[in-house]
Amino acid sequence: MPRIFSGIQPSGELHIGNYLGAIKNWVALQSQYESIFCVVDYHAITLTYAPAALRRRTREMAVSLLATGIDPAHCTLFVQSRVPEHTELQWIFNTITPLGELERQVAFKEKSARQEQVMAGILNYPVLQAADILLYLADLVPVGEDQVQHLELSRVVARNWNARFAPEGQPYFPEPQAKLTPTRRIVGLDGNAKMSKSLGNTIGLLEPPDDIWAKLRPAVTDPARVKKTDPGNPDQCPVIFELHKAFSPPATVAEVDAKCRGAGWGCVDCKKVLFEHMNAELTPIRTRAQALAEQPRLVDDALDAGAEKARVIARQTMTHVKEQMGLA
Ligand code: AMP
Ligand code: TRP
Repeated sequence: MPRIFSGIQPSGELHIGNYLGAIKNWVALQSQYESIFCVVDYHAITLTYAPAALRRRTREMAVSLLATGIDPAHCTLFVQSRVPEHTELQWIFNTITPLGELERQVAFKEKSARQEQVMAGILNYPVLQAADILLYLADLVPVGEDQVQHLELSRVVARNWNARFAPEGQPYFPEPQAKLTPTRRIVGLDGNAKMSKSLGNTIGLLEPPDDIWAKLRPAVTDPARVKKTDPGNPDQCPVIFELHKAFSPPATVAEVDAKCRGAGWGCVDCKKVLFEHMNAELTPIRTRAQALAEQPRLVDDALDAGAEKARVIARQTMTHVKEQMGLA
């Protein structure tokens, strides 16, 4: 069975961009592939943070993932820092990753532009990501579109290591490929290209319905539709129409298209229908998250067991890597 690996930073609450772009896919894939999912806390410390908040968010992220349907009976779920082999392999990979490849990463350029002083961890972030994936010899990585360049780098790392340390014609590390969802990039409520916590344009996965409606109601729509009687174009409404495609059944999506073009519905009518369908999907997730938050032992046990399972594979990989490199 091919193996998949993916990670998410515990840098804030899970939002519907993460959910539609990645996590929903994880839930679907966990029964088809050998699946390993990781809350990547070492990645989250590359930007300034408060230790107590990190501890809380790591836990909350695990709770949210379990609430969406990530099932430890069908996959391995763990916290990155509990498996020290990730950072051990990262050091090794640092020695075979060209600096130029790291400097041209768009995520690095964007993050470092916002910093007064740029720390080496921001630059080396994708090397740790390559270590995460390759430690488990994963073939596929379910992520949103913004991670495609990081995965290219993982392939460079795999190729470089294989070229130097694996016998000719017998590559050890597979070159991992991205596995994107149909909703590979969710636009922010403000119309910004990416829904992102740092832009403040998100809907939290566990937000109460009233708060979700308060955010949906003023969200941007087709700017050409000033009055309710103006015909609209759903393709000019990337926020609401895309969310309909993600949350509403196909018949509703077709109705939205027709009612928008024919000015049958106003934008608020259209948003109300979306809100109903969102609630139908999100209410059970919220309910499960509440139940899990009241059972901290259950979450701890799941994460402990996940880290144990992950370490078995991680140790095997490190033993082989060190042997090939003259380190053992
Ligand atoms: P992050 O919160 O940056 O750790 O992202 C976690 C996962 O969600 C990654 O697979 C991202 O590619 C994905 N993701 C984040 N924001 C979006 C978005 N606006 N649309 C689609 N996927 C996203
Ligand atoms: N960089 C990813 C993000 O911001 C998180 C991540 C870390 C990851 N390690 C990974 C994703 C390994 C996939 C595989 O979303």
